[in-house]
Amino acid sequence: MAKPRMKTTEQTEVSEAQIAVHWKEEAYYQPSEKFKAQANMRDPHVFDRFGLDKFPDCFREYADMLTWFEPYHTVLDTSDAPFWKWFAGGKINASYNCVDRQLATYANKAAFIFVPEPEAERDVVMTYQELYDRVNEVAAMLRDLGVKAGDRVTFHMPMVPQLPITMLACARLGIIHSQVFGGFSGQACGSRIHDSGSRVLVTMDSYWRNGALVDHKANADIAVRAAKELGQDVDKVLVWQRYPGKYSAKTPMVPGRDVFVDDLLKDYQGKKVEPVALPSEAPLFLMYSSGTTGKPKGAQHGIAGYLSYVTATSKWILDIHPEDIYWCMADIGWITGHSYIVYGPLANAATSVLYEGVPTFPDAGRPWRIAERLGVNIFHTAPTAIRMLRKLGPQEPRKYKYHFKSMTTVGEPIEPEAWRWYYDEVGKREAVITDTWWMTETGGFLGTTVPAIHAMKPGSCGPAAPGIHPVIYDETGAEISKGSGKAGNMCIRNPWPGIMQTIWGDHDRYVKTYYGKYNKHPRSKDWRDWPFLCGDGAVQAADGYYRILGRIDDVINVAGHRLGTKEIESACLTVPEIAEAAVVPVQDELKGRVPEVYVALKPGVPPSQAVIDRVVKANEEVIGKIACSRPSRIAGMSAT
Ligand code: PRX
Repeated sequence: MAKPRMKTTEQTEVSEAQIAVHWKEEAYYQPSEKFKAQANMRDPHVFDRFGLDKFPDCFREYADMLTWFEPYHTVLDTSDAPFWKWFAGGKINASYNCVDRQLATYANKAAFIFVPEPEAERDVVMTYQELYDRVNEVAAMLRDLGVKAGDRVTFHMPMVPQLPITMLACARLGIIHSQVFGGFSGQACGSRIHDSGSRVLVTMDSYWRNGALVDHKANADIAVRAAKELGQDVDKVLVWQRYPGKYSAKTPMVPGRDVFVDDLLKDYQGKKVEPVALPSEAPLFLMYSSGTTGKPKGAQHGIAGYLSYVTATSKWILDIHPEDIYWCMADIGWITGHSYIVYGPLANAATSVLYEGVPTFPDAGRPWRIAERLGVNIFHTAPTAIRMLRKLGPQEPRKYKYHFKSMTTVGEPIEPEAWRWYYDEVGKREAVITDTWWMTETGGFLGTTVPAIHAMKPGSCGPAAPGIHPVIYDETGAEISKGSGKAGNMCIRNPWPGIMQTIWGDHDRYVKTYYGKYNKHPRSKDWRDWPFLCGDGAVQAADGYYRILGRIDDVINVAGHRLGTKEIESACLTVPEIAEAAVVPVQDELKGRVPEVYVALKPGVPPSQAVIDRVVKANEEVIGKIACSRPSRIAGMSAT
């Protein structure tokens, strides 16, 4: 079935690249003197220090932000290019760097302030000392369950403190965690369990979402069944309780397989586990992301490179100081949450707000009430949330007396109009905005401003983080120069510490997807031969700022979350009446893009609402509710 063309609201034949080229240049906004005076990174020479002529040694500065058990001997080992080994020879532990080393100065400072979705429920403040105690107990429990360094453990957890605790417990032992976004279906979780070869699943009985206590444990049963059908057995399902001591789900616990973590932990109170000194390049976690095939790929991130990168960018770009109150509204189930709720902020001794629910519950003033009450001064969210909050409560921020010094937007292009509302209303014209462009595979920010050094320009992510050297290539591999008005494929000339190590279990797919297009010497050990294909189209203005135009592959960025068109198409084909399915992105006022599904029915099957409902249900089961939040958009059903 031929794919319908991408639809735009104007219904024109103009490509996105051409639209961007004719988009008017926006005026600059300057950071305030007050912000500049306190910023962590205000040295304008930082870009000389991180010039390509200083690569890769410039990144020693990032490694120096971490505490090492044994020093590394080689900054970047390229002997197995493009499988980069950062800080080779070193020994390190991520849990130690995020927790233990903060105790000397910050034991009694809050690491996390957990804000439950029900407004009547009290916050839970967890100090670094408490985080340390809990992480040790869970690590001791995992060790006794026989899970060891290099094993994979899958998580299917909501936004609760137990999630970072369990992640850090895994990191302490060298166990590779693989958190599947809590909103994904049980089946989607099962296929990721299978791909990663996990024998343990960590989940929670329930959580609050939009005013309802969701029964989440039911997904674990589906996930275990789905994994088994694919050939992967799960021996243990560790179930956290949203209210310890009380089971808030309907599905029965399976004897021998399912265990309440809070019960197990009773035997581990006060237990301590030494953090394991792990090689720099040992994997820290897998993060599955959609690609061009129906099968999501597990981006593998290694300890030292990843941790150094998110630590440095949290410090220099997010501008986190230990005395700040930082709130990132992303979900830890996505890369943003891993990098900029858990690892980066904790390594900087941040105090972070962890919010369980949806930003607009019970109304569009919720985020601003939280910000006022807790004194949040750094705020981090995605354009979809910004559009939603603007639509539902354009003047809500004015009612609350919080003051942000810095704000971040991430995950999708932000249109200048939404940017200006974020700046004027949410930031009250006091806060800087960093528009950070990056992806699951890159570990941390690529395109961004350094907020005390660069002016902001609405709709453009800015130049690039220190040490990131982008280049835009056309289809033939020729460089597109800045200011030419032409769009092309955004690549990074050099590797950087946060870059993924490989796709779990599929090295060929890694080389082909990210380097296949522009590498001309497949045997080369020289990093210069391996520009990294990011997967986005972009245009660079004369001032060097990049505007990101969107994915160049079959991936739709829905509300900042990647969904593969092939994944949605295969979900549709599980409905017996469907002969063919095609998915295209359409523009959406709030979510940026949403998938629109076109299906062809098998001969003799009449079009009906019942079939539409089955297609929606199939997508909910195979992927999750995020794949079909607007069933009314399912259109174009036609019989073949
Ligand atoms: O298309 C880009 C878009 O999100 C994609 C990456 O999605 P994911 O791996 O889920 O990671 C999201 C969080 C980093 C990119 O290929 N994207 C991300 N940030 C921006 C963006 N598009 C425009 N501007 C951004 N700031």
